[in-house]
Order: sequence, then C-alpha cells, then structure tokens
Amino acid sequence: MVNTACELKRLADGLWAAETGLRALGMPMTTRMTIARLPSGLWVHSPVPLVPLRAAVDDLGQVRWRVAPNLMHHLYQAPWQAAYPDSPLFAPPGLAAKRPDLRIDGSPVAGAASWGDDILALPVAGNPTLDETVFLHRPSGSLIITDLAVNLGPEAHWMVRLYARLMGCHGRLSLSYLLKLLYRDRQAARASLDRILSLDFDRVIPAHGPVIETGGKAALTAAFAWLKP
Ligand SMILES: [Fe+2]
Repeated sequence: MVNTACELKRLADGLWAAETGLRALGMPMTTRMTIARLPSGLWVHSPVPLVPLRAAVDDLGQVRWRVAPNLMHHLYQAPWQAAYPDSPLFAPPGLAAKRPDLRIDGSPVAGAASWGDDILALPVAGNPTLDETVFLHRPSGSLIITDLAVNLGPEAHWMVRLYARLMGCHGRLSLSYLLKLLYRDRQAARASLDRILSLDFDRVIPAHGPVIETGGKAALTAAFAWLKP
C-alpha cells in the first residue's frame, strides 16, 4: 500500500471528500470518497478505509446510505457495512456476484428514491464492464463521477503519469484508450452523456485526480468528444 493517511476535506456546503492511496495495476494511485450531508443523514459514495476517518465521519452525522458507483469501486464497503449495519448499500446489480459478502439493497437509481431530490442518480449506459452511475449533488452543482473519466496530472506518481501519457489520459479530464474500448453501445452511452451534460453543474469530482472546481461541464464535454453514436 502507498500512503493511507487520509482526512475529510470540505468541498462545499454539505459536501466533503477524502482520498486514500491504493495500488492499481501495480501503480500507486489515489482514490476519492465523497460524502454529502442530506437532511436526514450522510450519503457515502465509494468509501475509502473507515478506521482513520471514523470519528470525523461520525462528527458529520449519521451514515444513512452507501453507494458503490460501479463494478470496480467496492473495495472498502465491508467495514462500513459492519460499522453502519442499518445503512443500505446501493450498487450495480452485477456486484452481487463479485462481492457475495456484501448486502446489496438495490441499484443506485433505486437508492435515489430513498435519499431524495438533492442527489440525482444518472446511469451511464453502454459500458457493461464498468456499469457506472454518476451523481449530481444539486445544492452545490457538483457532478460526482468515479471511473467515467480521470484527472491525472502533475500531482500523480511518475508511474501513473507515464501510464496516463501512454494511455492518452494525462493532463486533463479524460479516459484511457482501454476504457474507451469498453463502450460497446456507443449510441446508448452518448445518450447518457448528453443527459448528464444537460444538467446544471460546474464542479466535477472524479475518483482519481484533483477535483475540478469550475469549468467541469466543459471538461467533461471535451473528455467525451470522441464518443459518437
Ligand atoms: Fe477507479
């Protein structure tokens, strides 16, 4: 493992994030959790290790909902499930086969019916390997994505920067050549992206790389310019 020290950082009113290190494809990467405080409790997206953050999370409020936003980001759910057994987990249906140890209570879209209008759930069609849902935190105009696109630049480890350059995803919000290949139904994916891009947001919060505080919609539009039906 690389650096596992992490802390909650406030991004906007009612919105926090924490990053942790992990190894992916043999490289020292970082991944980000996002927490939103809704009127009746905390919404936790793509959790990172709980232990170093437990007190800070509990200070924010009661964990009410947990989200595994795609088929890849589920690594740290088990301790959260143990610590907050009354919080339902919403995840893509395919995760049940991958993680039989997790109790999955429904899809992210089903979750949105439970947590209310402050966070919209927007599934991205056409990429069954990832099966990602992105989320709009409406009060702050923030789009929370996971692996839909990465934002890898100078702050990343040199191995990650090299990988990103080779994969065509360095220095801007973008996705790798490999990830582009996973979009099997481009028409459906384009329709999903167009719906997402029609929403009102300026900040983009990716799982990998710095938050884009402003201009996020233009960045996401550019990241998916290649995707034509
Ligand atoms: Fe990821």
